[in-house]
Amino acid sequence: MTTTLTLRRPDDWHVHLRDGAILQGVVPHTARQFARAIVMPNLNPPMTDAAGVSAYRARIMAALDQGASNPAFTPLMTLYLTDATAPDEVARGYADGVFVAAKLYPAHATTGSAHGVTDIARIYPVLERMAAIGMPLLVHGEVTDSHVDIFDREAVFIDRTMTRLIADLPELRVVFEHITTAEAAAFVENAGPNVAATITPQHLHINRNAMLVGGIRPHAYCLPVAKREHHRLALRKLATSGFSRVFLGTDTAPHARHLKEAACGCAGIFNAPFALESYATVFDEEGALDRFEAFASLNGPAFYRLPVNEGTVTLVREPVTVPDAIDCNGTMIVPFHAGETLGWRLIQ
Ligand code: NCD
Ligand code: ZN
Repeated sequence: MTTTLTLRRPDDWHVHLRDGAILQGVVPHTARQFARAIVMPNLNPPMTDAAGVSAYRARIMAALDQGASNPAFTPLMTLYLTDATAPDEVARGYADGVFVAAKLYPAHATTGSAHGVTDIARIYPVLERMAAIGMPLLVHGEVTDSHVDIFDREAVFIDRTMTRLIADLPELRVVFEHITTAEAAAFVENAGPNVAATITPQHLHINRNAMLVGGIRPHAYCLPVAKREHHRLALRKLATSGFSRVFLGTDTAPHARHLKEAACGCAGIFNAPFALESYATVFDEEGALDRFEAFASLNGPAFYRLPVNEGTVTLVREPVTVPDAIDCNGTMIVPFHAGETLGWRLIQ
């Protein structure tokens, strides 16, 4: 039985680091586990221009200097697309290295998406420019139509938007983020080389029962929402299959405990503190530990055309108990797997 797992230092291709005091509390958790991370721009207000993204990056670096265990951590920044985004602003910021990708939030799809895109047709000039320069588009793939059931919003997005987007702009490099359905898994598998996906730990571990059986459990609630069991099984199959266009993206989305345990609780799961332990448990359960490094450390850089990281991390088969809550610079946040014991421990 494998008792030690050493991998190339991994990256997280989707994180929410927030801003201000919470940023300082949460960023060390990501920096401890990952060499690089794609940082989401859904702040309030959102990061819609190069100057704002640069300033946010500087705040992240300042927060890291004040206590991260891995000061070599590199945030990879993203631009928040709106109906008004100018193609030149996107191309210039990308060429200058301010951001490595742009994020498409359909307006009102999730936390911090009120300024998102109301109709993808409006940003075609931006997307055409991105296709021409090889810049990745990161997609929150859910429709926002109030007539569509929340559990169907990803599958309907594929039918209404994603399929046409890929057909219209085959050169556009697209990451279908935090996929949650068998339909999305099949879509990415059958798409061409310019389409990839990320999968979170929670969508590999839980189905919608975890949210609703025995009481409403707000800490299992995120968007896209967890689906039925057969979707979870399809995601586990794809993640652990060795398929090269799927990679690690935690979607760690911290919210203060009192904002989740509320009459209208926020969407988002804080999984950064034990992310590698959580994913390793899944790969172990699926008998696929030999494929974990590709998912965590190789496939992402290949898609983003970045070098693989130097150095390694090591996990050992030892129990690790996840605390009930974590103090993030004064804000108590309940982590994913709170109170559970996982079978792998990260020892660096
Ligand atoms: C994210 C957040 O809180 O910023 N929430 C979530 O449930 N994942 C937004 C997002 O990525 O959808
Ligand atoms: Zn997210």
